[in-house]
Amino acid sequence: MKKVLVEGVTGSRTLVLVANHARPEPDLPLDDLPGLGGRFDLVARFVNAALLTSHGIREDTDAIVVFTQPGEPLAIRVRGDEVTGVGPDERSTAARLLGALEATPMPVWQAVAEGIELRTGALSDLLTDLADPLVLVHGDGEPLAGDRGAGTFVIGDHAGFTQAQRDRLVKQAGGVASLGSTALQADHVAAVLHHELDR
Ligand SMILES: C[S@@+](CC[C@H](N)C(=O)[O-])C[C@H]1O[C@@H](n2cnc3c(N)ncnc32)[C@H](O)[C@@H]1O
Repeated sequence: MKKVLVEGVTGSRTLVLVANHARPEPDLPLDDLPGLGGRFDLVARFVNAALLTSHGIREDTDAIVVFTQPGEPLAIRVRGDEVTGVGPDERSTAARLLGALEATPMPVWQAVAEGIELRTGALSDLLTDLADPLVLVHGDGEPLAGDRGAGTFVIGDHAGFTQAQRDRLVKQAGGVASLGSTALQADHVAAVLHHELDR
């Protein structure tokens, strides 16, 4: 059976969430992350799942969230080896991200808080300078095969990718990796992906 291979690839992992609905607005009320926040709760849970272990943080992993709406695409990168103030509850992580989003993003990555960077740019541009291989993570791909695998893994939000995003990502990525036939939530995908890559 054909597999998406990340075996033998050493280095860091980058988990990317393409958030087509979350609103990257610093004044979002923490009490309404799912509603007014356009599922900003999922963003916070994704960052936690991408970076946190039990009582620790994955220093070899970065979490990136690309906000495609509204206006110019904007991305936030949280570096596992540097970030502070990310807690196991989604409200504290959301507060940390929203605080960082008060800064004005530029078209290149810029540090705006300890271990947190922002930049503007289209999804395809944002993905160009990240660790190889670039893998699209979707249920209709090939099984993932890895051994302490590294690379950049792109995951959709609660509604998945738009067709245009998917077409572009399929062209840009080295493969489409599936974690099984059950459709999972994006934050759960992050946890299962780490589990597979940690083997
Ligand atoms: C809640 S799902 C989105 C469902 C949406 N209907 C779709 O087909 O993309 C969120 C994202 O998690 C990833 N995902 C969910 N289940 C998966 C699976 N079994 N294998 C790999 N990726 C999965 C995909 O990137 C998906 O876009």
